[in-house]
Amino acid sequence: MRKLFSFLLIATMAMGFTACSSNTPAPAETPTAETPAAEAPADEKPLIGVTIYKYDDNFMSFVRQNIEAAADGKAELVMNDSQNDQAKQNDQVDAMIAKGVKALAINLVDPGAAPAIAEKAKAANIPVVFFNKEYPDGTDKTGYDKAWYVGTTSAESGVIQGELIAEGWKANANWDKNGDGKMQYVMLMGEPGHPDAEARTKYSVDTVVAAGIEVEELAKQTGMWDAAKGKELMETWLAAHGEKIEMVICNNDGMALGAVEALKASGYFEGDKFMPVVGVDAIPEALDLVEKGQMAGTVLNDAENQGKATLELAVNAALGKDVLEGTSWVLDETRAVRVPYVAVTK
Ligand code: GAL
Ligand code: CA
Repeated sequence: MRKLFSFLLIATMAMGFTACSSNTPAPAETPTAETPAAEAPADEKPLIGVTIYKYDDNFMSFVRQNIEAAADGKAELVMNDSQNDQAKQNDQVDAMIAKGVKALAINLVDPGAAPAIAEKAKAANIPVVFFNKEYPDGTDKTGYDKAWYVGTTSAESGVIQGELIAEGWKANANWDKNGDGKMQYVMLMGEPGHPDAEARTKYSVDTVVAAGIEVEELAKQTGMWDAAKGKELMETWLAAHGEKIEMVICNNDGMALGAVEALKASGYFEGDKFMPVVGVDAIPEALDLVEKGQMAGTVLNDAENQGKATLELAVNAALGKDVLEGTSWVLDETRAVRVPYVAVTK
């Protein structure tokens, strides 16, 4: 119906111009019948090619759902699971370009692959919106002026997590189990080289130290954002350090869920055996644990707004509009939209 209407509109306008030009010669600047016709795609739903670095990532499944929800009535999506394989993702990008997508929305496997993907997009003259995994040098350095980024300010999550930890520590004298005035912690890190993982690892502890709390690191390893790996590492650390551990800092909730599983299996959260565990993301399972007192806190990583912004920028870019048109997002000097994090405690 909408298509029919716009066709009629264009036909009527074209007739109008024809009638007009038969009486008076059209000045050079007068819009022709092509002007409204060129805008017609605005009424259509552009085809957008999306990759998720792997479907089997707890937080990314929410970003994916929110991209799909935001696309309703606005775009047709081609969705790809890159299965944590950059070579596979490169092939998927080639295939989507061959298929004629009007824009790409790419959640990289390897953040360092941004210039290679930008190169492909540039060669095909298709805009690309990267999301969630940021090119560490900045999206403006990918070599393509039609490349944008939607994500967060990574450091912010570390700072907020550090503040949650410091507040909890100061309010609960019994968290210092051995009473030595120092916080003995273990750290579950996300993927090495991922800007979120690197920044969370650094800024969480820096913030605790800046709050005047002495810390001692007992163990630190990557759990690759993954619950099963988090559980395994926590089991190893409980076996090695047991009661010496006073704080479990996790770069994301997925790994925190795994750590809590391991802790429960060791009798924690029964009677007065307690362990503060903190994460990032605020996925529903983690909110549940916060509610039950089995996680001390988490940081909301806003999947809804990140998904929405990704889709909106991609649609605008696909239609050749200013990427921010009709939205309330702001771009920083690296062409990134940064959605804020929010602290979550009980
Ligand atoms: C982070 C998120 C992690 C993981 C990662 C994937 O922002 O906190 O849980 O999903 O993105 O790149
Ligand atoms: Ca201590």
